[in-house]
Amino acid sequence: MCGIIGCFSKEGCYEKLMAGLARLEYRGYDSAGVALLSPDGALAVRKKKGGVAGLAGAPLPGDTGIGHTRWATHGKPSDANAHPHVAGKFALVHNGIVENYARLRAELAAAGETFVSETDSEVIVRLIARLYGGDFFAAVSAACARLEGSYAVAVLCSDFPGQIICAKQKSPLVAGASGGDLYVCSDIPALAGAAEYVCPAEDGEFIRIAAGRVVFCDGQGKEIPKVFTRLTAASRAETGGGSFMEREIAAVPRALADTLASLRASDFAPCARAMRAARRVFAVACGTAFHAALAFKDAVERDAGVPVLCHPSSEFRYRDPLVGPGDLVVAVSQSGETADTLEAARLAKSRGAYLLSVTNVECSTLAALADHNVAMRAGAEIAVAATKSYNCQLLCLYYLAAQLTFFRCTRWPAWFSSLDALAPAARAAFDSFSAVRALAERLRGAGGMYFIGRGQDVRTAAEGALKVKEIAYLFAEGCAAGELKHGTLALVEEGFPVLAVATSRRLAQKCENALAEAKARGAYAALFSQYEDVLSESCADFTCRLPAVTEALMPVVAVIPLQYFACSMCLLRGYDPDKPRNLAKSVTVE
Ligand code: AGP
Repeated sequence: MCGIIGCFSKEGCYEKLMAGLARLEYRGYDSAGVALLSPDGALAVRKKKGGVAGLAGAPLPGDTGIGHTRWATHGKPSDANAHPHVAGKFALVHNGIVENYARLRAELAAAGETFVSETDSEVIVRLIARLYGGDFFAAVSAACARLEGSYAVAVLCSDFPGQIICAKQKSPLVAGASGGDLYVCSDIPALAGAAEYVCPAEDGEFIRIAAGRVVFCDGQGKEIPKVFTRLTAASRAETGGGSFMEREIAAVPRALADTLASLRASDFAPCARAMRAARRVFAVACGTAFHAALAFKDAVERDAGVPVLCHPSSEFRYRDPLVGPGDLVVAVSQSGETADTLEAARLAKSRGAYLLSVTNVECSTLAALADHNVAMRAGAEIAVAATKSYNCQLLCLYYLAAQLTFFRCTRWPAWFSSLDALAPAARAAFDSFSAVRALAERLRGAGGMYFIGRGQDVRTAAEGALKVKEIAYLFAEGCAAGELKHGTLALVEEGFPVLAVATSRRLAQKCENALAEAKARGAYAALFSQYEDVLSESCADFTCRLPAVTEALMPVVAVIPLQYFACSMCLLRGYDPDKPRNLAKSVTVE
């Protein structure tokens, strides 16, 4: 959702900026650009429609620079709409949405400003230029005071070589340092390998890079003391061959083992009271994380006997939810920066609920907002399609469901002693990959497909369908097997693929019946189950044996072949699994 970066480095600033931009690209790839400022005050800008690779050319001179990867909100992807935007002595990169931009634009245009882009971001730099009276910081601060909406900005001024002024409001921003090199950036993974120490900014704060120092301050320029923490290896992206998505699927066993170790070392005592006394339990999340939240509902209702109200974050605040003091709200987000989830979490907190977050980025905005954060240890996830983070979200949420069960019912769910089996089972799921790839080859030309399941498998079906839509650009729907005959079945004709997941022995036969009904109408039927007898007795055209773990934990494992299936479909159809069209990794705008 747009990535911004700033760098001060006496040596190789341009190269460092470009390397950072490449690491940031998963936040948006509609256009990219950089601006470099030399010690003599010369400003050089290069920006272009398309990805970071399109910026290649001779290095721009300068020791201070800013860069941007764009996910278009206002204005189509084009060279003119690419950042940095320039006005007079200033160059600016922006992530977020200026909600009052139309009013500001009209006001500036009436004052004689000529706009060269369709973006909301250009109003910020023109406002700064208008307000400038010789004090760089004061101009940025005064301009920000007039903005409504969300922003993380980094600004250069040709009167102030060696300086970058940044501001943050509702969009992520972090500072980094390594020796004499100083950075600002939209997120921590993009600084991995560059910065040794990092520190996130809070809303309303400014970051000033000047005189070889990075300093946090308030709107008046008063310094705010901060502690930088060492960037851990866990923030690094997965290395190896192939796409990030393939590497991230391959990392699932490691990610599960690390997450389990971290959960076991965590102290849940601080949230024990909230869990024990919760009047109601809510779960809010978006996309893949929402599917994990639904799996949490299944587990808590089954094991703790407490109803869980699950809402997509984007709907939560507009429904005037019945949330209040005494309620427990669990917000799930890989990035911890998803705007909709943050707003849902803020609403819950403002109404007096206890906020528990599950995130993969410990110093994210959501983790900071929460009364208690449960940290996944998936490691940096770069591919836009979430994979290893979903498996880890499920593990964290099941662990949380077990805590809730213990705090409320003074017993642990039976499956709680089987968690060690998850990582080996995830590895064993890789054995199915050659067969799953063959299935993808068989279905690569399909016009669409259904994923079906019953009980907890409905969540896996929904996640499988989301992955196929997201990266293989195929219509896919995940639904409850029993719902097929209530309308969905009408689309099934000769060869239409229906992929069923059956991990519950009790419900397997019911799921198979639905598959048989689809097959009777010509569907190409595929069945994923850990039960040999279920598979052998089924009428499916394709069967995949899943590694067995205790049924309650099967969603963590059953989704792996579906993740790989979507990735294979994507690659076979000639697309890039890491950068699906129209999407970005971290959705930091509403
Ligand atoms: C998953 O493949 C998607 N990219 C998307 O649905 C994602 O899960 C969603 O945007 C939520 O992101 P978050 O977990 O970082 O909040």
